[in-house]
Amino acid sequence: MKDALMKIKEQALSDIASGAEDIEALKVKYLGKKGELTAILKGMGKLTAEERPVIGQLANDVRNAIEEAIAKEQASLKEKALAKTLLEEKIDVSVPGNKKEIGSKHPLTIVLDELKDIFVGMGYEIADGPEVEYDYYNFEALNIPQDHPARDTQDTFYINDNIVLRTQTSSMQIRVMENKKPPIKIIAPGRVYRSDAVDATHSPVFHQIEGLVVDKGITMSDLKGTLETFVKRLYGDDAKIRFRPHHFPFTEPSAEVDVSCFVCKGEGCSVCKGEGWIEILGAGMVHPNVLKVCGIDPEVYSGFAFGIGLERLVMRRFDINDLRLFFENDIRFLKQF
Ligand code: DAH
Repeated sequence: MKDALMKIKEQALSDIASGAEDIEALKVKYLGKKGELTAILKGMGKLTAEERPVIGQLANDVRNAIEEAIAKEQASLKEKALAKTLLEEKIDVSVPGNKKEIGSKHPLTIVLDELKDIFVGMGYEIADGPEVEYDYYNFEALNIPQDHPARDTQDTFYINDNIVLRTQTSSMQIRVMENKKPPIKIIAPGRVYRSDAVDATHSPVFHQIEGLVVDKGITMSDLKGTLETFVKRLYGDDAKIRFRPHHFPFTEPSAEVDVSCFVCKGEGCSVCKGEGWIEILGAGMVHPNVLKVCGIDPEVYSGFAFGIGLERLVMRRFDINDLRLFFENDIRFLKQF
């Protein structure tokens, strides 16, 4: 029995040291309930009373020796694994980092944000509405009935007979007045569409900012004062505006509004094409028919409206000569803002 124990010890220690077999498997093989050591100890009953403590002691020593060798081997395996991970996952803190490119605002957004700030500063709210719009809001309710010639100048994309891609943010005038009673003071920026061929000054999609104020006693002088304030905030205190009579179906009277050229201050240059003035928007007093279809009594209330074309404003601001640059998203262009 003594020999058997010594043999087990020897075999176990050499197996563990060789590292050829899985350490857990060796643990089961030698120390487990069905292991070799246990098998021997089961035969202890046959020993004499003198032999039993001696063999018992020896068996314990063998078990301790094997346990110790296993624990040692396990610790060393763990250490090796750690060293391996440390080596593989080494971080070189001197490697230059991945620089995250930070984008910049699109030039249209830069100027739109400025306009929003200016009007919000004057107490306006910002209204938002659909680009896919009913004919009713885009034309009919704006005093542009089915056969009105004004429709010809705003040809658009038809979803069906009743639904179009809006040609103007003026549709928001109706949507706002249907939902809110005066006092009303909003701007409505957004995309509009026309079936124009693409060139340096035309795009089938562009942006407008609509303005609408309705209250008791609103007059043309309120419109003028508002636009004057807006233009001075945008271009500086020496900017002037000029109203030219015009016609829009949904305003009466109507005007096109020019701003004194901010490059030559009115002297005439290439930016204003020698005129000294640059057209920036359409405006007028809200037509009584438009108030009426929205359930607002034109005998009690009056209002003004205006529509600004964003692209043109931005092109002049940054001296951009081709509208297509706004929509091509060429990084070399966008990077400059
Ligand atoms: N919606 C007009 C256009 O696209 C611009 C416009 C003119 C808007 C006069 C207005 C306005 O609100 O009063 O040509």
